[in-house]
Amino acid sequence: MQRTFAIIKPDAVRKQAAGQILARIEGAGFAVRALRMIHMSKPEAEGFYHVHRDKPFFGGLTDFMSSGPCIVMCLEAPDAIRQWRDLMGATDPAKAAPGTLRKDFGASIDNNATHGSDAPETAAFELGYFFRGMELR
Ligand code: CDP
Ligand code: MG
Repeated sequence: MQRTFAIIKPDAVRKQAAGQILARIEGAGFAVRALRMIHMSKPEAEGFYHVHRDKPFFGGLTDFMSSGPCIVMCLEAPDAIRQWRDLMGATDPAKAAPGTLRKDFGASIDNNATHGSDAPETAAFELGYFFRGMELR
């Protein structure tokens, strides 16, 4: 078993797609080990995405991620990091495969509905950024 960190981003929450996305997560066999709705401040979003601080999209990305509530989750499954990224699809919804969440719920590369950790080290950092140990069952 492996754990990964996932976000239903503000665009998906705004369009009331969170329930459908959660149903797809559970339908794909992930166990939801922790879940909370939060509204990140701009500095909190900047801390979360610090690896991208030198990218041209950093300002827009952190504005977007602090633009409204999102749902942060710990998902568990065999090979969860890869499985969750496969279910999300490519970063750009226009390039995401049919049947992926970003294809179905994302509007553009900067409004792409979901986030997922890309490696065990980032999953550990990202889970720890939002969840205390006692919240992770
Ligand atoms: O989220 P993912 O790991 O697939 O992509 P990333 O390369 O780690 O980029 C993080 C996030 O930045 C993406 O999910 C997009 O929301 C955003 N982004 C953007 O707005 N414009 C880009 N050219 C690239 C990424
Ligand atoms: Mg990434």
